[in-house]
Amino acid sequence: MKSIIRYTGTIAVTAMVAWATAAYLFGSSADAQPAPQPPPQPTEQAAPQADGSSGAQPGAAAAAADTGAAAQAGSAAPPEPAKPTIVEVPCDNATPATTFTGPVDGEVATDSVVKFALPPSVDIIPDSQTSAGLEVKAGQTRCLKFTADGTFLFHSSTKQRGAITARQWYDILVNKQVDDLKGGNFWMPKAVNLTADDSDLMYYAVLGLSLFFFLAIAGAVVFLVVKYRHRPGHKPEPSPAHNDALEITWTVIPTIICVFLFYYGWTTYVRVVTPPTKAVEINVLAWRWNWQFTHSNGVQDSDLHVPVNTPVRLVMTSKDVLHSFYAPVMRVKQDIVPRRYTYAWFFPTKPGTYRLTCAEYCGTNHSQMGITNDGRRAVLVVHEPGGYERYLADKAAQSTKLPPVDLGKLLYEKKGCNACHTVDGSARVGPTWKGTFGTMVPLSDGTQVKMDESYIRESMIYPQAKSRPGYPPSMPSFEGQLKEKDILGIIAYIKSLK
Ligand code: CUA
Repeated sequence: MKSIIRYTGTIAVTAMVAWATAAYLFGSSADAQPAPQPPPQPTEQAAPQADGSSGAQPGAAAAAADTGAAAQAGSAAPPEPAKPTIVEVPCDNATPATTFTGPVDGEVATDSVVKFALPPSVDIIPDSQTSAGLEVKAGQTRCLKFTADGTFLFHSSTKQRGAITARQWYDILVNKQVDDLKGGNFWMPKAVNLTADDSDLMYYAVLGLSLFFFLAIAGAVVFLVVKYRHRPGHKPEPSPAHNDALEITWTVIPTIICVFLFYYGWTTYVRVVTPPTKAVEINVLAWRWNWQFTHSNGVQDSDLHVPVNTPVRLVMTSKDVLHSFYAPVMRVKQDIVPRRYTYAWFFPTKPGTYRLTCAEYCGTNHSQMGITNDGRRAVLVVHEPGGYERYLADKAAQSTKLPPVDLGKLLYEKKGCNACHTVDGSARVGPTWKGTFGTMVPLSDGTQVKMDESYIRESMIYPQAKSRPGYPPSMPSFEGQLKEKDILGIIAYIKSLK
């Protein structure tokens, strides 16, 4: 009996040591844990943007110089139609967000001050009407402000070319390289969710235990096979049919380990699926093939923006098939089911831009779900303190002041129209939008219909009413998800695609 106790004790201690070692070695990877604090209430009403109108207008001289420059530079067509919106501001009372010292490609936040401090050998000459006002002479220092989004092309008399892209500050965040690979290890990216500590520890403990037992058992097998191999002069010994000590050992120890794993796993699971009552709530709608995140003030986006150090609760549903919300750094993966709501929550501990994918096969473009026109994937942005509230206000203000064509173009990506419809004339899952407005299009029933405002509208609300031959009738209805203004915007955008 004494030997049983000693034997049991030895193995139990070894298992515990293996556990502790695994947990210590692989470590828990979430950040230092700040004390949970009540979430800030997002502003209900969108605050008007701080900078409504800038008084200064680009000088006539710059515009005149531009005409000459454009002729000289040849046919560098601006990729984006944008108004001349580069204005000069005094350098002394503004802190520049960026400083350029020569013609390089750069990205700046819309409405931030950009300082151009050029050496005596380099100058900047705008390439087109779009970039009018973007003119800096050699050796000059000017502070400019880009008051609208767009790409502004320029060149230098040294034949160098450059482009500056102005984007809203939150668009710069979503276009950043994802931070997932910073500080992770071989197994997982670094967790930024407060509750991820427990699930990570579970993962490493199970991994450590499995490794320990695999090596111990495989080692014993190899050792015994070699030691008792058949040799001349050796007779097989009779093996015992029964050994109480051994049988009790291999029952009791695994039981203890399993009960421990169960207890730890269960309490962690309960924590992971129970969001705190005070959480920022965001509605998630998934469909083939995009995300739509709706915030408390009505702002909708296909990237998920959340505040830092605040619990976030997602209320999710799908328009068509199963999808799955997966944010690896949050250790959150939850199926999204049509006609019912599922939930997920997390507590972000570190601002950054992180990966966000669909983790359930949902059809042809599953791997492209949430991808934008320029090939960027949907992301999860954790804002610095105060950034989330600013995002809600700025985003709301932006969508109200967009001209219809720009709003339509924005919705084309944000509502995921781009997953099925191209704007370059090629066919995808659905027909292209380019050059079709005003033409007669054939229908599946053999008749024809004029592609006009009414047809576009009907196709968004009742997609199957007049379907086109050669395309699967798989478009979901956008009834209730597009405001009248949005519908007009999309129609205006389709009209603009000649
Ligand atoms: Cu949505 Cu896969």
